[in-house]
Amino acid sequence: MDSSLRRAWTEIITGDDLDQHLAAIGQAQAGAELACTMLRSTAPPAGGRVVIAGAGTGQMLDFLDPDLLRPFRLTFTDLNPVFLARLSERLARGGLSATILEDDIERTAIEPAPDLLMATLLLEQIDWRRGVEAMAGLRPAACGIVIQENPAGMTSGITPGRQRPPSMAKAFESAHITLVPCEELIAAFAARSYACRETWPREVADGKKLVGLLFVRR
Ligand SMILES: C[S@@+](CC[C@H](N)C(=O)[O-])C[C@H]1O[C@@H](n2cnc3c(N)ncnc32)[C@H](O)[C@@H]1O
Repeated sequence: MDSSLRRAWTEIITGDDLDQHLAAIGQAQAGAELACTMLRSTAPPAGGRVVIAGAGTGQMLDFLDPDLLRPFRLTFTDLNPVFLARLSERLARGGLSATILEDDIERTAIEPAPDLLMATLLLEQIDWRRGVEAMAGLRPAACGIVIQENPAGMTSGITPGRQRPPSMAKAFESAHITLVPCEELIAAFAARSYACRETWPREVADGKKLVGLLFVRR
């Protein structure tokens, strides 16, 4: 993982700012809705293991019905322990229990073979091919990935001219996210025996889309 991005996520960006930004651009809401869609589509068995990697502050929990998650053994991971503390408070508010793991997905300690592994806007922050390798290496029965797609001609991950909260503005002076090309992502999973079963595009602010992709093990 790029050292500027690691520093951005572990030393600069605050949980308040991350939450405010993602909600303001509709990505928090769309990400939560896509997580619900993936859970319903895969229907993991009651008591099955559902892992959310790079879960941040757990903001999705503000936008979904906790009963949807209650049947499963949940694990939430992130690089940033301060984000995870905030996530833990959200779980408590929703009456949910989960394993919380401070974890770098590129050197992950997630227990292998979950029923469903989900990651929203995580691959953009890392070497995405290594991320795919790590996730497929865990051999989940299904893997739900949410990526960001920009309108034609917009190359930067963050919309030029959009006002960002202070810690995010500072972090992205030197750090740059890399968008993940959808077709290349599908090919990278296919090379690891995962077929793309469904895709769900969702419009968000600034002409962008979040695209949910569901991969299943062949
Ligand atoms: C754009 S935020 C998305 C957070 C959350 N998935 C959501 O949609 O609300 C990216 C998240 O990836 C985490 N992250 C960045 N690099 C990571 C890594 N190598 N391993 C695990 N998490 C990482 C960051 O700390 C941050 O919480």
